[in-house]
Amino acid sequence: MPRVYLSGEWVRFQRLRGTHDIVGQDAAVFQGIESAAREVFPVFDFEEIRTPVMEERELFTRALGTETDVVQKEMYEFEDRSKTKIALRPEGTAGIVRAYLENNFDKTRGLCKFYYLGPMFRSERPQAGRLRQFHQIGVEQLGAQSPFADAETLQSLTVFLNRAGVSDFTVKLNNLGTFEERQTFKEKLKKYLEPNRAQLCEDCRRRLEKNALRVLDCKIASCRKLIGSSPSILDDLTPESREHFTQVGRLLKRLGIAYQEDPRMVRGLDYYTKTVFEVSHPKLGAQDALAAGGRYDHLIEQFGGPAVGAVGFAVGVERLAMCLTFGEEEKLVPSASVFIATLGEKALEKGFELLSDLRKNAVRAAMDFEAKSLKSQMRSADKAHASFVVILGEDELERGKAVLKDMRNGSQEETPFGEVIRVLKEKVSSHA
Ligand code: HAM
Repeated sequence: MPRVYLSGEWVRFQRLRGTHDIVGQDAAVFQGIESAAREVFPVFDFEEIRTPVMEERELFTRALGTETDVVQKEMYEFEDRSKTKIALRPEGTAGIVRAYLENNFDKTRGLCKFYYLGPMFRSERPQAGRLRQFHQIGVEQLGAQSPFADAETLQSLTVFLNRAGVSDFTVKLNNLGTFEERQTFKEKLKKYLEPNRAQLCEDCRRRLEKNALRVLDCKIASCRKLIGSSPSILDDLTPESREHFTQVGRLLKRLGIAYQEDPRMVRGLDYYTKTVFEVSHPKLGAQDALAAGGRYDHLIEQFGGPAVGAVGFAVGVERLAMCLTFGEEEKLVPSASVFIATLGEKALEKGFELLSDLRKNAVRAAMDFEAKSLKSQMRSADKAHASFVVILGEDELERGKAVLKDMRNGSQEETPFGEVIRVLKEKVSSHA
């Protein structure tokens, strides 16, 4: 444990609660997931965007809604030296809308299709699948009005999940209408819940006053019982929203994407309009979604842009990793293809040169500069899961040859120095 001696006592350093070090197998899994994203989303014509992890706090309070849990309880916020109120981004959408408008993409490009990956921060109570620094991979289509865009977005999500190695998921779909339609529904819901106030949990009693819709998201059993027979928002949709919902459903069927309608599904962020969806997976608890998203047709306009629609989603990378299963043989361990073992000072330098040449030739190679005996170097080669070992001693130097050992079958051969790179390149590529 790292520690420093401070004012007469040892102070230890640990990673902050709800954060983790991603290394070894976990890092390999992250890489796999990220490369699936980089493969799939460009095919759907999404280009990468990287926005800052910190933004002005107000961007999030305005975009996500002042009454949301994220804004009320979960943002990491601070004042910088110039007294600007800053927040670490709790999600990616708000920053992307800011970037879209700040770069005038609404005027110069019209439709923008972005994908993103990176860390997000929410001060939640840490537990499995719920972290304070977690990672999202998401997409946003800005300037997209059509239900085709909703279906396309959802398809990119399912293709990505499949490519990343997850198949056993369920897509739930709802339509929350416009802000006006939702207002009518909120009042109706409040009227339904009011007489049963006593059965609601403390939080929901508060939610009833501020935003009755949030009650629908409560996971507590007594509240869920009431929610089960609450009115459906789908009954309050205008023909336009209804038609949007029907169309999205029709298109998803056409694309072969299975989904369940869930008229009681709401999301924890206020910017959604019309389409909302959530992806769940049996490996995650009932509370935790693997991915979520939907339309946010007012957000761009709310920040001074044109009245154009937008739709997107985000997947939780840690949660996605929890849904993957690896057999022992599939474990992705970092491995060096070639290990160079040397004996003696001169051989060490020759080996170092060879190491550099292999790497210049894109052959993954390693060496143990500290090890003294050949035995301990062979142990390091094993630890590095090397497929081939180059052995160089005084003898070999004199003869201008290196011993190449195949670690899978133990066979050895001698190769002249001038040939070593070519031979190893061939061996490694036919071994891969
Ligand atoms: P969200 O539902 O708040 O939506 O989060 C999306 C996903 O991020 C969740 O389904 C979950 O997998 C992951 N996630 C959220 N919080 C945590 C946490 N504390 N620990 C681990 N994973 C977490 C959004 O963030 C929206 N921006 C999605 C979106 C994009 N909507 C439209 N465009």
